[in-house]
Amino acid sequence: MDFENIYIEEENQIGTITIDRPQKLNALNKRTIEELHVAFKELDDDAQIKVIIITGSGEKAFVAGADISEFADFSVSEAKRLSAEGQERLFDLVENLSTPVIAAINGFALGGGLELAMACHFRVASTNAKMGLPEVSLGVIPGYGGTQRLPQLIGKGRAMELIMTAGMIDGGTAVEYGLVNHVVSPEELLPLCVKIAGRISNNSSVAIKHAIKAVNAGFKYDVDGYAAEIEAFGTCFGTDDFKEGTSAFLEKRKADFPGS
Ligand code: COA
Repeated sequence: MDFENIYIEEENQIGTITIDRPQKLNALNKRTIEELHVAFKELDDDAQIKVIIITGSGEKAFVAGADISEFADFSVSEAKRLSAEGQERLFDLVENLSTPVIAAINGFALGGGLELAMACHFRVASTNAKMGLPEVSLGVIPGYGGTQRLPQLIGKGRAMELIMTAGMIDGGTAVEYGLVNHVVSPEELLPLCVKIAGRISNNSSVAIKHAIKAVNAGFKYDVDGYAAEIEAFGTCFGTDDFKEGTSAFLEKRKADFPGS
């Protein structure tokens, strides 16, 4: 697939996806969601890529939401399909990806933009970031997982207030709430994400894959997270990465994980 609305850069085992519709503040239209689906799958399938960073182009926006012009005249059934397909093709895909995904929030992350950031495994924001779920100001509610992931991340009361007021919070408040892990200047945003990605890359990608699965299991209503952890813990013992990691420790050397 030829990408029109995103581009990918690969360096030092890190794949960076940039959403590139700055004239529309990187709003997520159908095509962009499909391109992101393909890009995430491609990078996840690439054994050389250890971490994925997603950000927005320009200085103003990460993503200013789903593209309002595309769904303004949708019917009830079309709207349900939009939400279900988007969740399946992109948001759930990102959350359950084997490769760690970091959101580098470089400006407005509103509606579907914040929902995309929340589907990532964790978030770093720049000081000019503004985050919120403004959907009720449009007469609708978040439809890409926002009503579920925001309370998971910041607690029910704060999520209710943010959703009901359609308000925006800055990086400082987002750190205080636990919505983002760090807030840094715009110039420091990608370098910090790359630095964290580098630290992640030193570890076993196989073990990280199982850790993501076990952590996510605790947030699924039909899965026992503790049972999922026991299963994943045991599975690690059958991997070459585990043999290498434990041997390297006992031999007092740095592990060189085979990734299997
Ligand atoms: N969907 C479609 N287009 C969008 C968009 C969205 N979610 N967000 C921004 N854009 C477009 C604007 O329509 C405008 O396009 P135009 O130049 O062709 O008119 C362009 O991006 C620039 O946005 P603009 O509103 O002029 O910038 P601003 O600095 O005045 O305001 C925001 C910035 C983010 C406050 C404002 O764009 C906004 O409120 N966007 C919608 C946010 C939202 O409700 N998202 C949730 C959607 S469910």
